[in-house]
Amino acid sequence: MPKEKNTEIEVTVDNLGINGEGVARYNGKAVFIKNALPGEKVRAKIIFSKPSFCHAIVLEYLTKSENRVNPACPLFPKCGGCNIQHLNYDAQLLYKQDLVKSTLLHVGKIDFPVSKTVASDKVLRYRNKMSLPVREGKNGVEIGLFATASHRVVPCEDCLLQPEWNKKLIALLKVFVRDNKIPCYNEETKKGVLKHFVVREVEGCLYVTLVVTKQIKADVFADMLADNFNSFVLYQNVNTMDNNVILSDRWHVVKKHNEPKLVENIFTTIHPAGFFQVNDYIRRKMYEKVAYVLKNHDTNVVIDAYSGAGLLTSFFASFAPVVYGIEINKQAHESATEIAKNNGLDNMHPILGDVKDKIGDILDEHIGRNIALVLDPPRSGCDRSVIEKINAYEGITNLVYISCNPATLARDLSLLTSYEILSVTPYDMFPQTVNVETLVILRKKTK
Ligand SMILES: C[S@@+](CC[C@H](N)C(=O)[O-])C[C@H]1O[C@@H](n2cnc3c(N)ncnc32)[C@H](O)[C@@H]1O
Repeated sequence: MPKEKNTEIEVTVDNLGINGEGVARYNGKAVFIKNALPGEKVRAKIIFSKPSFCHAIVLEYLTKSENRVNPACPLFPKCGGCNIQHLNYDAQLLYKQDLVKSTLLHVGKIDFPVSKTVASDKVLRYRNKMSLPVREGKNGVEIGLFATASHRVVPCEDCLLQPEWNKKLIALLKVFVRDNKIPCYNEETKKGVLKHFVVREVEGCLYVTLVVTKQIKADVFADMLADNFNSFVLYQNVNTMDNNVILSDRWHVVKKHNEPKLVENIFTTIHPAGFFQVNDYIRRKMYEKVAYVLKNHDTNVVIDAYSGAGLLTSFFASFAPVVYGIEINKQAHESATEIAKNNGLDNMHPILGDVKDKIGDILDEHIGRNIALVLDPPRSGCDRSVIEKINAYEGITNLVYISCNPATLARDLSLLTSYEILSVTPYDMFPQTVNVETLVILRKKTK
């Protein structure tokens, strides 16, 4: 095998890889080239080589794709937040449709027509959640995003995926840290207190969390927030773990300031530890579609497995006689319990626990009834034992699978052998990135 590192090559990019990099072939192996788009011919230099693949950087674009656009953000592609900002939006939607289709085929051996990707109304500033590492840099505090596949912070003053509030919040935190001499975390020495800055906006209220290794005096920061924002809750989350998990379960409320109680016409508050879809517009579109599908069937019982904070479960409770939500995260489960109580939803039953331990009992309790099951698992997909129970149970007439990972979706669909797929629709929950949310509607196969 010739030594390929530093070799200059001329290749044409065939497609996009899972991190948004261009993929071409050279010497029979895949070459991953950052910032190169399908159809582009480039002169590139190999910077890393392995027997089956290599990485290269572009030296010159010999031809450029007509789908290339100027990225709106000056930090692209240095920062690891976005990976396809250089691709025009229609091509992004098409890419995600193709990605779902080809993953179903290659991973799941499922050849099924995939609908067009449902577009987001906003392609920038669409996220309701930001999570930024805070580090002690050479020149003081650094707040930003990690560069791709690293723990190097790329400082950021305005992330274009976040609403305008991110600018002010980052600036305020910097002033607070500087004026109050708050020591920020250093990953090498493991010293420092302030580690992460996590903010989520729900119905105009900012849920602001300072992730710290020990509690700090944060009243001054609460006052700064009150001078600038109408509605917020400030938390400290004490996290002493030395790993990639951002939040621990040690929460302290510093201040609540005009917190709303209504989220999408439901009386509730959403705890920042509970999962909440990051793009409000796409979340609503997807929830409406799921509710529409289930409403049109004579469903006696709905099981919302992996239910998060219970918002979707509560929609089901408005039309189905009995509804269960199964969720493993304690705070998310508490939010769901609060929704049921505050809205008088006596037919909504949030259950705390692992789906694999809880679903069997619920199914057994409702033998002979029409059950609709909604699966919305984390990226790792469903446990094999969950799939087996679903296959074996006769009464699940309608099945909905919501997934943020096409590969585990394809694997699980291929295992759900007693169901047939009716539709597969990608939703663009995450514009400017290669990530995609997919909604699959299935029904029990007739014998
Ligand atoms: C993708 S989120 C879906 C949340 C919800 N359906 C929504 O739309 O907001 C997945 C949820 O599953 C929960 N979860 C992860 N593993 C679980 C398990 N084994 N059993 C129950 N819930 C689990 C996570 O805490 C998270 O809230």
